[in-house]
Amino acid sequence: MHTEVKLDRTAGVLTITLSRPDKKNALTDAMYGVLADAIDSASSDQEVRVILIQGEGDAFTAGNDLGEFAAQAAGSGPAEPNVARFLHNIASTSVPVIAAVQGKAVGVGTTMLLHCDYVILSEDAQLITPFINLALVPEAASSYLLPLRIGHARAFEMFAFGEPLPAATALACGIANKVVPNADLRSEARRVAERIAAKPYGSMTAMKQLMRDVEKLASQMGAERAVFTKRLQSEEAREAFRAFSEKRRPDFSRINGR
Ligand code: COA
Repeated sequence: MHTEVKLDRTAGVLTITLSRPDKKNALTDAMYGVLADAIDSASSDQEVRVILIQGEGDAFTAGNDLGEFAAQAAGSGPAEPNVARFLHNIASTSVPVIAAVQGKAVGVGTTMLLHCDYVILSEDAQLITPFINLALVPEAASSYLLPLRIGHARAFEMFAFGEPLPAATALACGIANKVVPNADLRSEARRVAERIAAKPYGSMTAMKQLMRDVEKLASQMGAERAVFTKRLQSEEAREAFRAFSEKRRPDFSRINGR
C-alpha cells in the first residue's frame, strides 16, 4: 500500500487520507495515481457508498508538489501525469464525495473541493489558489466552477491575488457546508459520511449525476490543460519555481510574458 495516501473502507465509507504531513501533504504524481485509482474503483465497489477525503497533519494539502512542477517545466515529467486522471475521476464519479479540510488547502487542495458534494472546514482552514502567483492558470475546471459558485468578482480576486480565504468566508460564499472546531473535524466528517451512506444509494447517485454537467467539466479541463501546460514551460513559471526552492520572492519584473 502507498504510504502517502491511506485508504480505509469501513461501513460504506471509503476514507482517503493524504499522508505526507512533513511536506504539508503536497501531492506527487504517485499520490495522484492512488487517488485516481481509489475513486475509480469506488464507483464499482458495492461496499462503498460515499468517499471521504481528508489530510493528516496541520494542512489539508499544499497542492501539487512544486518540485514535480519544476521537473515538468524542465521537460522531465511523466508523459501522462496521473493528475489528469484524478481530476477526471473526481469530476465524473457518481459516488458522493465529502472533504474534511484543516489548515491550508492550496491549489488543487481548493479546486478539488468544487468537485466535492459536501465540504467541512475546520475553523483554521484557509483556501488558497496561487496559480497566478506561480505564473500558471487555474485547473480542475475551477476557471468555470469557482466564478459559478462565488461570482466572478470574488473568483477573480482569489485567483489573481492568491490570498487565503478564511473558513468563515468560504462558508458564507457557498464553497463549504459547515465550519467546525479543529478537534471535531474528523468526527463530524465521519458522522456526515455515515448519514449519506445510509441514504438510498441509487437515488443519491442519480441525483448527483443530474446535478453535474460532466461533459462541460471535461471540456473545461481540456481547455485549461492546454494553457496550463504551455504556462508551465514559461520563463515566468520557471522563475516562480526557482524562487520557491530558493525560499525567496519571485521577480517577474524583467520577464516579458507576452
Ligand atoms: N511542493 C513541495 N514541497 C512543499 C510544498 C509543495 N507544494 N508545500 C510545502 N512543501 C514543503 C516545503 O518545501 C517544506 O519542506 P522542507 O521542510 O524540506 O523545507 C515543508 O513542505 C513544509 O513547508 P513550509 O513552507 O515550511 O510550511 P509553512 O507552514 O511555512 O507553509 C505552505 C505552508 C503550504 C503555505 C507553504 O509551504 C507553501 O506556500 N507551499 C507551496 C504551495 C503551492 O504553491 N502549491 C502549488 C499550488 S498550484
